[in-house]
Amino acid sequence: MLHSRSTVLCHPCDSPPSELASRLSCLSVRRTDIDRNWGQEGQEGQEAQEGQEETQGFGNIQPFQPFLPFLPFQPFQPFLPLLPEEGKIARMSVAAAAIRAPSGGNAQPWHIEARGGSVSVRLAPEHSTTMDVGYRASAVAVGAATFNARVAAAAHGLIGKVDFQPGDEASPLSAIVHLSSGDDAELSPLYEAMLGRETNRRRGDRAPIPGQTLELLDSAARNEGARLHILSDPADVEMAATILAAADRIRYLTPRLHAEMFEELRLPGDPSPDTGIDIRSLELGPAHLVMLDILRRSEVMADLAQWNAGTALGDDTYGRVAASSAVGVISVRGQSLSDYARGGSAVESVWIRAQQHGLAVQPVSPAFLYAHDEKDLGELSPTFAGHLGDLQYNFRKLANTDAGESQVLVLRFTRAPRPSVPSRRRGLHRVSSPPG
Ligand SMILES: Cc1cc2nc3c(=O)[nH]c(=O)nc-3n(C[C@H](O)[C@H](O)[C@H](O)COP(=O)(O)O)c2cc1C
Repeated sequence: MLHSRSTVLCHPCDSPPSELASRLSCLSVRRTDIDRNWGQEGQEGQEAQEGQEETQGFGNIQPFQPFLPFLPFQPFQPFLPLLPEEGKIARMSVAAAAIRAPSGGNAQPWHIEARGGSVSVRLAPEHSTTMDVGYRASAVAVGAATFNARVAAAAHGLIGKVDFQPGDEASPLSAIVHLSSGDDAELSPLYEAMLGRETNRRRGDRAPIPGQTLELLDSAARNEGARLHILSDPADVEMAATILAAADRIRYLTPRLHAEMFEELRLPGDPSPDTGIDIRSLELGPAHLVMLDILRRSEVMADLAQWNAGTALGDDTYGRVAASSAVGVISVRGQSLSDYARGGSAVESVWIRAQQHGLAVQPVSPAFLYAHDEKDLGELSPTFAGHLGDLQYNFRKLANTDAGESQVLVLRFTRAPRPSVPSRRRGLHRVSSPPG
């Protein structure tokens, strides 16, 4: 049962929402990786062929070509300086990895520059939406991009040291990945898995996750300075499903959130195919696709809002979350954009390793996720701010998130076949690479 904030306070961490304010030795392989990402604007997505073996989702070029040889890495020779050409390829490979990061609505809210001994990822506020309260979702995406950059650096015998810097209105957060020679035995083996990370929205099976896998995911989050709270008890998963479904209902019923949700979707032939979410990746059956056409209509949503109706609007989210093996909530201590970015690195590390262990992963972002206070909730949904606050309160309680922590992302884990289509990206040609 869900509780209103005013009626339930029984755990020491409980707090009402207002307090929440409070080298590259293998050039042929690396060139291949870069080429995969050198997308061209306007290219159409590639649909995975039936029976296709473990294809990797490489954005807007080709699906993974299993016949391309993957040569074994040779250990990096620190006493051999990188030739200028090698250095450039390493940098571009690091940038190519960064652009594969996940982002809310696949907005790719970053500007990436590869220059000298570093690659910078700057938060691009022009890609923000209402749900991206205070650019916190964008900061999560920037943090995930730096994790990918570090993994690619490690695969090239380089260490990527990340420096998050707060900025101004024009660029509220910058992450500079400083590249220097060195080994990172933890990160380099993640390279292929990092390139293959993907959002899987298939419903999937609720197969139990082995304790060893859960421990590994837990330490992946901790190593990045975050915390992973796993909900695997069926009653907890069901409660999470109830809360997340109710938050999605509010997303449908709030005109601005509703409009932005549909603006993210891309039909085949869409004039903006390099960003957004391909409708095929929603993995909906024919009946649900018809339903989506009705859900798109703002006048229908306005009527439902007026009647305070539309409980069925959260049904799809409820069904998917309730059918999951587990729900993971990643949180960090602190509330700054750098804290959210650190959390984004943890999200990416957990996500890559979960997939390596056979799990399908889908984030499920409730509208309240990045709200810190009542003002944020009011800006998200003037009509349903109070209800969103209650939902946030209950979800934080369920996930044992204390008042000093910020929830960074909610992931549902399941066992499922690969997604129908790879996600899209703006190509590597958009990375600026001044000489030097
Ligand atoms: C902060 C954040 C929030 C997200 N929220 C959702 C979500 O609510 N539902 C969903 O299906 N995917 C969500 N995603 C996944 C993105 O849609 C996905 O990363 C993007 O479309 C690119 O696809 P890829 O992950 O397969 O590369 C989220 C990702 C991030 C980083």
